[in-house]
Amino acid sequence: MGRTKLDSVEFEDLSDESHVGSTDQERFGEIFRRNMPYGTVTDHGTMFVGFARAQRRLSAMLESMAGLTTGTRDALTRFTHPLTGAYYFVPSTGSVRAGIGDPPGSSP
Ligand code: HEM
Repeated sequence: MGRTKLDSVEFEDLSDESHVGSTDQERFGEIFRRNMPYGTVTDHGTMFVGFARAQRRLSAMLESMAGLTTGTRDALTRFTHPLTGAYYFVPSTGSVRAGIGDPPGSSP
């Protein structure tokens, strides 16, 4: 991933195929992310969830992971098997209020 195993210190020089290098937020823009593990002993995985103010940040990171940006594929893709994916638009509370008014049951 781009850190030493024992003390978790980030490498000074990242390999071209490192995941941290291929999703560098200084390059693609900041995102908020969570990996949610799920499943049982026989069927399990992790669900990556990324939030960003612009969809392009996430799609650019995915393109980079796939090797479309530099020609080098993220090594993480050799150990993971993507099943599905989707983008969702989450409007701000302010824009929802401006568009459709207060949700039923909310205080004035
Ligand atoms: C199975 C899927 C994934 C796993 C297990 C995973 C795991 C990780 C890990 C372990 C790190 C390093 C955290 C650290 O050193 O502090 C990381 C960093 C990161 N990952 Fe992932 N990741 C996954 C998928 C993705 C995807 C699909 C994206 C983007 C679309 C993404 C974006 C990022 C970003 C932006 C960083 C931080 C890079 C930076 O340091 O600027 N990851 N990920």
